[in-house]
Amino acid sequence: MRTIIRCIATYLPEKVVTNDDLSKVLDTSDEWIYTRTGIESRHIAEEDELASDLGIAASKKLLALSDIDPIDIDAVIVSTTTADRRFPSCACRIQGAIGANRAFAFDINAACAGFIYGLAISDSMIRSMNLKNVLLVTAETLTKFVDWTDRSTCVLFGDGAGALLIQSSSDDESSGIISTKLYSDGSEERHDSILSHRGPQNGYRGYTTMAGRSVFRYAIENMSSSMNEILAENNMTLDDIDWIIPHQANRRILESMCKMRNFPTEKFIITTKDHANTSSSSIPLALDEKLREGKIKAGDTLLFTALGAGLVWGAAIVRL
Ligand SMILES: CC(C)(COP(=O)(O)OP(=O)(O)OC[C@H]1O[C@@H](n2cnc3c(N)ncnc32)[C@H](O)[C@@H]1OP(=O)(O)O)[C@@H](O)C(=O)NCCC(=O)NCCS
Repeated sequence: MRTIIRCIATYLPEKVVTNDDLSKVLDTSDEWIYTRTGIESRHIAEEDELASDLGIAASKKLLALSDIDPIDIDAVIVSTTTADRRFPSCACRIQGAIGANRAFAFDINAACAGFIYGLAISDSMIRSMNLKNVLLVTAETLTKFVDWTDRSTCVLFGDGAGALLIQSSSDDESSGIISTKLYSDGSEERHDSILSHRGPQNGYRGYTTMAGRSVFRYAIENMSSSMNEILAENNMTLDDIDWIIPHQANRRILESMCKMRNFPTEKFIITTKDHANTSSSSIPLALDEKLREGKIKAGDTLLFTALGAGLVWGAAIVRL
């Protein structure tokens, strides 16, 4: 038995905000943002469009694309750092909205590494609980949690959602989740390097702050080491990998990573230009886009890696 990614769908809010749009309301420029991050534009959810709404839209697209009856879904797992409320979970709202009436549902928060954590949890629950179908959703509205007068953070983020049908399968022994690897480091300096301040600790006020330069360094160090470790553990090298899909925070981080660690740039999928940093949705958005373009194909072996607030990070190897 293998755990496979059977189908993927994504959803982006309609509203697109370009760097030029931002430069009309902030002391910034397209040139500054693009050269430092590779971002040109981002999708931004409307005020009344919540994380679960994005997740529902992506899930409904997935149901339309696949032949799955919602009643056959065993679990709905949602990765989000920007849930509509403290509780109930986005997962329960999505479960109800799509009629997955037999599924259990819960949220996870592993920030920008949430997709890799979600993949690992889906894989292990399918194996340990003998599940058939898991709906793994990433639903993020980080633009609701940034200070739109703070040019050093607000330009970096966008909103979006992904939905994946993760399935147990005995059909094709060569495809499936080959390996996942998760890490965390909550020591003070790293813990405080990316923070969303809005919560009881801060009187429910405040926005997202980031020690940009430190996070840049941590991202290169930790994503690179997780890639090297997961490959070594599976007796693989980058020659065995067709495409590397990293968390799409910032093109410059990825280019520096390739340069410093001698990774093959041509295998890196980079989609920061049109999406900006959509947290745990960034890998599903990149994967879906490149599958639809025909760049990534069935049978390809993919290496995912991501790092986010916590710090948390990880890697996964999947054959489609
Ligand atoms: C955020 C980031 C792009 C900033 O780039 P940087 O080169 O480190 O820039 P700095 O923060 O040192 O700021 C340099 C100058 O640009 C200014 N600046 C910051 N944001 C700006 C903006 N949007 N437009 C114009 N100028 C800006 C700063 O005020 C500073 O000006 P000063 O020198 O007069 O004080 C970079 O640190 C980065 O990419 N970090 C990783 C962020 C990330 O992707 N995190 C998510 C991981 S999940």
